[in-house]
Amino acid sequence: MKDLNAVITGVASYVPDYILDNNEISTMVDTTDEWIMSRIGIKERRILKEEGVGSSYMGVRAVKSLLEKTATKPEEIELIICSTSTPDFTFPSTAAMIAEGNGIKNAFAYDLSAACSGFLFALETATAFIKAGRYKKVIVVAAEKMSSITNYTDRTTCPLFGDASAAVLVEPTEEHFGVLDSILCTDGVGIPNLQLKAGGSACPASHDTVDNNLHTVYQEGQVVFKYAVSRMSDVSAEIMERNQLTHDDIAWFVPHQANMRIIDAAANRMGLEKEKVMINIQKYGNTSAATLPLCLSEWEPQLKKGDNIILSAFGAGFTWGAIYLKWGYDGK
Ligand code: UT7
Repeated sequence: MKDLNAVITGVASYVPDYILDNNEISTMVDTTDEWIMSRIGIKERRILKEEGVGSSYMGVRAVKSLLEKTATKPEEIELIICSTSTPDFTFPSTAAMIAEGNGIKNAFAYDLSAACSGFLFALETATAFIKAGRYKKVIVVAAEKMSSITNYTDRTTCPLFGDASAAVLVEPTEEHFGVLDSILCTDGVGIPNLQLKAGGSACPASHDTVDNNLHTVYQEGQVVFKYAVSRMSDVSAEIMERNQLTHDDIAWFVPHQANMRIIDAAANRMGLEKEKVMINIQKYGNTSAATLPLCLSEWEPQLKKGDNIILSAFGAGFTWGAIYLKWGYDGK
């Protein structure tokens, strides 16, 4: 058998209609548009307002659009990996619900939890299955209803997050395209700095956990910021070096959209001009695992076959990493 590569052959996304802008946020907590724009770079974010639905609601729609765009029948899909930190339920998996919502019956489906780095970890997993020759049509979907774990009375975290879903189809190719290298890391040093303290098996939901607001994101912003800048910059530079890529060789850098200052630091370290950096943080905020495929979906029309793309992310755990891929089709 010839060597196989795993290539993205389609991308699609879904964002809710409701726009929560900085003016509205400043009626909820003591903040201003000026502070949020200068310290984070977010103008607005999307919020899923529909009653009684979770991340799968958005994931179903992103995958539906992906199947339509790629003219793929539901029965052709063999595996769905859903990256989420905001599953509809602890079980069954959000992946199972996304499969059901699209009539996908011939696939096995499961969730993968790696916080904001989840898309990278899931794409690496899909790549391994495809390179092994095991499966031919794999969907990686990220679906995040971050508003469900955001404390809208805490000004240090509530401006940060938004809701979204985005999905890619990954298939084998014998050509030199697709995921060509990855550096993925976890260091538990960051466990206390960024957490959802309650609702899991260590601290199940109780009156106390609700009264003490332990079901929303807890973040020590400055600590996370320092690690994010250094780790994301380091892996992005390292993956370029070890693939002998200079800034001229890179068509696009796709960074996790957590803070404009983190994005700038990583891009500077790589020697990249701003025009090559996908940035939509101002419109959507931090949608956790969904930020990277949401960028790919928005920029898809501009992508060309053969484009060298570096994806990079950092999140709770800490988890972080970078993936180098060669884009497999003309986006137009
Ligand atoms: O996606 C997962 C990974 N997450 C990240 O990468 C996030 C990393 N962290 C960050 O992006 C930044 O740390 C934040 C955006 C969360 C915060 O920015 P910062 O520049 O680190 O602010 P800070 O926490 O050091 O706070 C500076 C000041 C404080 O006031 P004092 O103590 O100096 O008087 C805060 O109380 O800014 C105050 N502050 C605010 N003021 C107005 C914090 N949030 C706000 C706010 N509006 N929304």
